[in-house]
Amino acid sequence: MKKVPRLNADGLVLRQLEPGDAPAMFIAHSDPLVKQHSHRSGDVHQDVAETEAYIKTALARPGAHVWAVTEDGGEALGRIALYVIREGVGEFGIILRRDAQGRGIASKAVALVSEYGFEKLGLHRLMADIDPENGSSLTLFIRNDFHREGVLKQNWKTHSGLRDSVIMAKLKGAKPD
Ligand SMILES: CC(C)(COP(=O)(O)OP(=O)(O)OC[C@H]1O[C@@H](n2cnc3c(N)ncnc32)[C@H](O)[C@@H]1OP(=O)(O)O)[C@@H](O)C(=O)NCCC(=O)NCCS
Repeated sequence: MKKVPRLNADGLVLRQLEPGDAPAMFIAHSDPLVKQHSHRSGDVHQDVAETEAYIKTALARPGAHVWAVTEDGGEALGRIALYVIREGVGEFGIILRRDAQGRGIASKAVALVSEYGFEKLGLHRLMADIDPENGSSLTLFIRNDFHREGVLKQNWKTHSGLRDSVIMAKLKGAKPD
Protein backbone atom coordinates (compact mmCIF):
# COMPACT_ATOMS: atom_id res chain seq x y z
CA MET A 1 0.00 0.00 0.00
CA LYS A 2 1.22 3.49 -0.89
CA LYS A 3 0.87 5.84 2.13
CA VAL A 4 -0.63 9.14 1.05
CA PRO A 5 0.16 12.57 2.51
CA ARG A 6 -2.43 14.90 4.05
CA LEU A 7 -3.96 17.30 1.57
CA ASN A 8 -5.81 20.41 2.80
CA ALA A 9 -8.28 22.85 1.34
CA ASP A 10 -10.74 25.26 2.93
CA GLY A 11 -12.89 23.13 5.31
CA LEU A 12 -11.47 19.87 3.97
CA VAL A 13 -8.70 17.53 5.08
CA LEU A 14 -7.81 14.43 3.07
CA ARG A 15 -5.83 11.88 5.09
CA GLN A 16 -4.81 8.24 4.69
CA LEU A 17 -7.83 5.89 4.76
CA GLU A 18 -7.36 3.06 7.29
CA PRO A 19 -9.24 -0.20 7.97
CA GLY A 20 -10.26 1.48 11.28
CA ASP A 21 -12.41 3.89 9.23
CA ALA A 22 -14.80 1.01 8.49
CA PRO A 23 -17.55 2.00 10.99
CA ALA A 24 -17.69 5.54 9.54
CA MET A 25 -17.44 4.33 5.94
CA PHE A 26 -20.22 1.78 6.56
CA ILE A 27 -22.64 4.75 6.70
CA ALA A 28 -22.00 5.37 2.98
CA HIS A 29 -21.56 1.77 1.86
CA SER A 30 -24.75 0.56 3.59
CA ASP A 31 -26.94 3.30 2.08
CA PRO A 32 -28.94 2.05 -0.94
CA LEU A 33 -29.32 5.61 -2.28
CA VAL A 34 -25.58 6.27 -2.15
CA LYS A 35 -24.83 2.92 -3.80
CA GLN A 36 -27.52 3.10 -6.47
CA HIS A 37 -25.08 3.79 -9.33
CA SER A 38 -22.03 2.04 -7.90
CA HIS A 39 -22.72 -1.08 -9.90
CA ARG A 40 -19.11 -2.08 -10.22
CA SER A 41 -18.15 -1.64 -6.59
CA GLY A 42 -20.71 -4.21 -5.50
CA ASP A 43 -23.90 -4.24 -3.53
CA VAL A 44 -25.00 -2.42 -0.40
CA HIS A 45 -22.85 -3.56 2.54
CA GLN A 46 -24.59 -5.59 5.22
CA ASP A 47 -22.16 -5.10 8.11
CA VAL A 48 -19.03 -3.21 9.16
CA ALA A 49 -16.86 -6.30 8.57
CA GLU A 50 -17.82 -6.18 4.89
CA THR A 51 -16.79 -2.52 4.73
CA GLU A 52 -13.49 -3.28 6.48
CA ALA A 53 -12.74 -6.06 3.96
CA TYR A 54 -13.65 -3.68 1.12
CA ILE A 55 -11.27 -1.01 2.46
CA LYS A 56 -8.45 -3.57 2.81
CA THR A 57 -8.99 -4.74 -0.78
CA ALA A 58 -8.90 -1.13 -2.05
CA LEU A 59 -5.71 -0.38 -0.11
CA ALA A 60 -4.06 -3.55 -1.45
CA ARG A 61 -4.76 -2.73 -5.11
CA PRO A 62 -1.53 -2.07 -7.03
CA GLY A 63 -1.06 1.67 -7.52
CA ALA A 64 -3.71 2.59 -4.93
CA HIS A 65 -3.64 6.03 -3.28
CA VAL A 66 -6.63 6.25 -0.95
CA TRP A 67 -7.65 9.17 1.26
CA ALA A 68 -10.41 9.53 3.85
CA VAL A 69 -12.46 12.66 3.14
CA THR A 70 -12.80 14.59 6.41
CA GLU A 71 -13.55 18.11 7.61
CA ASP A 72 -10.69 18.27 10.14
CA GLY A 73 -8.64 15.07 9.86
CA GLY A 74 -11.12 13.13 12.03
CA GLU A 75 -14.17 11.11 11.01
CA ALA A 76 -14.29 9.83 7.43
CA LEU A 77 -17.29 11.28 5.56
CA GLY A 78 -16.23 9.21 2.56
CA ARG A 79 -13.15 8.34 0.61
CA ILE A 80 -11.41 9.34 -2.59
CA ALA A 81 -9.06 6.97 -4.40
CA LEU A 82 -6.65 7.44 -7.25
CA TYR A 83 -5.51 4.15 -8.74
CA VAL A 84 -2.45 4.36 -10.98
CA ILE A 85 -3.60 1.72 -13.46
CA ARG A 86 -0.56 1.98 -15.76
CA GLU A 87 2.36 4.33 -16.16
CA GLY A 88 1.15 7.93 -16.11
CA VAL A 89 -2.57 7.11 -15.90
CA GLY A 90 -4.71 7.52 -12.79
CA GLU A 91 -8.33 6.43 -12.33
CA PHE A 92 -10.60 8.00 -9.69
CA GLY A 93 -13.02 6.39 -7.31
CA ILE A 94 -15.04 8.46 -4.85
CA ILE A 95 -17.91 7.98 -2.43
CA LEU A 96 -19.41 10.31 0.17
CA ARG A 97 -22.12 9.54 2.67
CA ARG A 98 -25.41 11.28 1.97
CA ASP A 99 -25.19 14.00 4.64
CA ALA A 100 -21.81 15.09 3.22
CA GLN A 101 -23.10 15.48 -0.34
CA GLY A 102 -24.35 18.68 -1.94
CA ARG A 103 -21.74 20.89 -0.19
CA GLY A 104 -18.95 20.94 -2.75
CA ILE A 105 -16.76 18.63 -0.65
CA ALA A 106 -16.31 16.06 -3.44
CA SER A 107 -15.43 18.79 -5.94
CA LYS A 108 -12.71 20.15 -3.68
CA ALA A 109 -11.40 16.62 -3.04
CA VAL A 110 -11.18 15.86 -6.79
CA ALA A 111 -9.34 19.16 -7.33
CA LEU A 112 -6.81 18.40 -4.57
CA VAL A 113 -6.14 14.83 -5.71
CA SER A 114 -5.96 15.88 -9.38
CA GLU A 115 -3.23 18.37 -8.52
CA TYR A 116 -1.43 15.70 -6.48
CA GLY A 117 -1.70 13.21 -9.36
CA PHE A 118 -0.32 15.61 -11.94
CA GLU A 119 2.32 17.36 -9.82
CA LYS A 120 3.51 14.75 -7.31
CA LEU A 121 2.85 11.46 -9.09
CA GLY A 122 3.81 12.80 -12.50
CA LEU A 123 0.66 11.48 -14.17
CA HIS A 124 -0.30 12.75 -17.62
CA ARG A 125 -3.90 11.47 -17.68
CA LEU A 126 -6.63 11.31 -15.04
CA MET A 127 -9.87 9.50 -15.75
CA ALA A 128 -13.12 8.30 -14.29
CA ASP A 129 -15.36 5.46 -15.46
CA ILE A 130 -18.93 6.53 -14.66
CA ASP A 131 -22.33 4.94 -15.01
CA PRO A 132 -24.38 6.94 -17.59
CA GLU A 133 -27.20 7.35 -15.02
CA ASN A 134 -24.87 8.76 -12.36
CA GLY A 135 -25.63 12.44 -12.88
CA SER A 136 -23.97 13.62 -9.62
CA SER A 137 -20.69 11.97 -10.54
CA LEU A 138 -20.75 13.22 -14.16
CA THR A 139 -21.38 16.77 -12.87
CA LEU A 140 -18.60 16.40 -10.31
CA PHE A 141 -16.00 15.63 -12.98
CA ILE A 142 -17.33 18.20 -15.48
CA ARG A 143 -17.04 20.80 -12.69
CA ASN A 144 -13.37 19.80 -12.39
CA ASP A 145 -12.75 20.34 -16.15
CA PHE A 146 -12.80 16.67 -17.13
CA HIS A 147 -13.99 15.98 -20.69
CA ARG A 148 -16.48 13.36 -21.76
CA GLU A 149 -14.47 11.17 -24.16
CA GLY A 150 -17.12 8.62 -25.01
CA VAL A 151 -19.12 5.60 -23.97
CA LEU A 152 -17.93 2.01 -23.67
CA LYS A 153 -20.95 -0.18 -24.28
CA GLN A 154 -21.66 -3.11 -21.94
CA ASN A 155 -18.32 -2.51 -20.26
CA TRP A 156 -19.30 -4.12 -16.95
CA LYS A 157 -21.19 -7.29 -16.01
CA THR A 158 -22.66 -6.41 -12.63
CA HIS A 159 -25.29 -7.58 -10.16
CA SER A 160 -27.72 -5.26 -11.99
CA GLY A 161 -26.88 -6.48 -15.49
CA LEU A 162 -24.61 -5.24 -18.27
CA ARG A 163 -23.65 -1.60 -17.75
CA ASP A 164 -22.14 1.03 -20.03
CA SER A 165 -19.27 3.33 -18.95
CA VAL A 166 -18.96 7.03 -19.66
CA ILE A 167 -15.24 7.84 -19.79
CA MET A 168 -14.36 11.27 -18.38
CA ALA A 169 -10.75 12.41 -18.55
CA LYS A 170 -8.42 15.33 -17.91
CA LEU A 171 -4.95 15.66 -19.43
CA LYS A 172 -2.02 17.40 -17.74
CA GLY A 173 -1.72 20.97 -18.91
CA ALA A 174 -5.03 20.95 -20.79
CA LYS A 175 -6.74 24.34 -20.70
CA PRO A 176 -10.29 24.46 -19.31
CA ASP A 177 -12.99 25.29 -21.92
C1 LIG B 1 -20.34 11.38 -6.76
C2 LIG B 1 -20.46 12.13 -5.43
C3 LIG B 1 -19.18 11.95 -4.61
C4 LIG B 1 -20.68 13.62 -5.72
O1 LIG B 1 -20.90 14.31 -4.50
P1 LIG B 1 -21.51 15.81 -4.50
O2 LIG B 1 -21.60 16.24 -3.12
O3 LIG B 1 -22.73 15.82 -5.36
O4 LIG B 1 -20.39 16.59 -5.30
P2 LIG B 1 -19.88 18.07 -5.16
O5 LIG B 1 -18.86 18.17 -4.08
O6 LIG B 1 -19.44 18.48 -6.52
O7 LIG B 1 -21.11 18.91 -4.68
C5 LIG B 1 -21.98 19.43 -5.65
C6 LIG B 1 -23.18 20.02 -4.95
O8 LIG B 1 -22.71 20.87 -3.89
C7 LIG B 1 -23.18 22.22 -4.16
N1 LIG B 1 -22.09 23.11 -3.70
C8 LIG B 1 -22.15 23.86 -2.60
N2 LIG B 1 -20.99 24.53 -2.43
C9 LIG B 1 -20.19 24.18 -3.47
C10 LIG B 1 -18.88 24.54 -3.85
N3 LIG B 1 -18.15 25.39 -3.11
N4 LIG B 1 -18.35 23.98 -4.96
C11 LIG B 1 -19.05 23.10 -5.72
N5 LIG B 1 -20.32 22.72 -5.39
C12 LIG B 1 -20.90 23.26 -4.28
C13 LIG B 1 -23.45 22.25 -5.64
O9 LIG B 1 -24.38 23.24 -5.96
C14 LIG B 1 -24.02 20.86 -5.86
O10 LIG B 1 -25.35 20.80 -5.38
P3 LIG B 1 -26.48 19.93 -6.11
O11 LIG B 1 -26.05 18.50 -5.96
O12 LIG B 1 -27.72 20.26 -5.35
O13 LIG B 1 -26.47 20.36 -7.53
C15 LIG B 1 -21.65 11.62 -4.59
O14 LIG B 1 -22.84 11.79 -5.34
C16 LIG B 1 -21.53 10.16 -4.20
O15 LIG B 1 -20.86 9.80 -3.23
N6 LIG B 1 -22.22 9.25 -4.95
C17 LIG B 1 -22.20 7.84 -4.64
C18 LIG B 1 -20.95 7.14 -5.08
C19 LIG B 1 -20.67 7.35 -6.53
O16 LIG B 1 -21.56 7.23 -7.37
N7 LIG B 1 -19.40 7.62 -6.84
C20 LIG B 1 -18.92 7.89 -8.18
C21 LIG B 1 -18.51 6.67 -8.85
S1 LIG B 1 -17.76 7.09 -10.42
